[in-house]
Amino acid sequence: MKTPKKIGLFGFGTVGKGFYENLKKYPHLAAQIAKVCVKRLDLPRIGHELYFTDNPEELLGDSEIDIIIELIDDPDAAKTYVEKALLAGKDVISANKKMIGESLQNVAIWHTSFDSSFLYEAAVGGGIPIVNAVDGFFRDQEITEIRGILNGSSNYILTQMQLHGWTFEQALKEAQAKGFAERNPLLDVSGIDASYKLSILAYHAFGEVPSMKSFEIESIENVTKEDIKRAKTKGRKIKLVASLKKTNQEISCSVKPEMVGANDEFYSVDFENNAISVETLISGRHVFVGKGAGAMPTGSAVLEDLKRLLNGYSYQVSNRIKTLA
Ligand code: HSE
Repeated sequence: MKTPKKIGLFGFGTVGKGFYENLKKYPHLAAQIAKVCVKRLDLPRIGHELYFTDNPEELLGDSEIDIIIELIDDPDAAKTYVEKALLAGKDVISANKKMIGESLQNVAIWHTSFDSSFLYEAAVGGGIPIVNAVDGFFRDQEITEIRGILNGSSNYILTQMQLHGWTFEQALKEAQAKGFAERNPLLDVSGIDASYKLSILAYHAFGEVPSMKSFEIESIENVTKEDIKRAKTKGRKIKLVASLKKTNQEISCSVKPEMVGANDEFYSVDFENNAISVETLISGRHVFVGKGAGAMPTGSAVLEDLKRLLNGYSYQVSNRIKTLA
């Protein structure tokens, strides 16, 4: 057996614990958690066999750590840790859609200038392998459109309002209790979280970074019980739909509530599920549906990135950028 690679894990919240539980199912994987960096050392924790610290340098400065997995909330700290780790020659996995979505210009530089890999499947669509599909499988198939339900919390809220007549506030509380929502749930309901994810998909689909300033973004906060009832009487549902289209050389992106009918690909995508459809000129339309939020689905995507890293995988987008340049 190969000497196991050593992992330095940042964060042990919902996704960190989900990753840890997923990893435990693969005791023979050639990678093990060496150190975990958390903000609060005083909190009671599962994972008693793990070494916890609150000093990031214990991980970043440890030459025996090969892989950094960054699963924290704070996008600024995450960006610093990812950049330092890549500079130190470590491979990096992240789930931080806010940091990645806001820093795509830097991400593009990281992908083209470092030999180490930087993967982040868990940042988009929870357990759905969509970054990999867009970056790898569909990359040469001329993607023309991506449409998605990319935020589990807002989909969960709209579903509970539709099915049980819950109020927006009641449904949001439940989405928070289930660990789907962000610490700041405004990111979920405003459409901003979905727009970070859409930018990441645009970057992998086209090798270009669209300016989020040009996005049309509308919150679900103004969707009332009456709007949902009205849609229901017409046999429709309200969904927060993210959409990206490429026409000629223009990429247009929007995230807004839409009324969808029973024959829409997203009509039956309820609760915290996400769905993404990818339209290509070569092979037509493909729809992915699955758990878009929650500890185990998101943790499983982190684990799959780890397995890919161990096989020497990096994203293909850097080749695309080099071709465009
Ligand atoms: N808050 C996010 C969501 C978590 O609800 O989709 C997964 O990115």
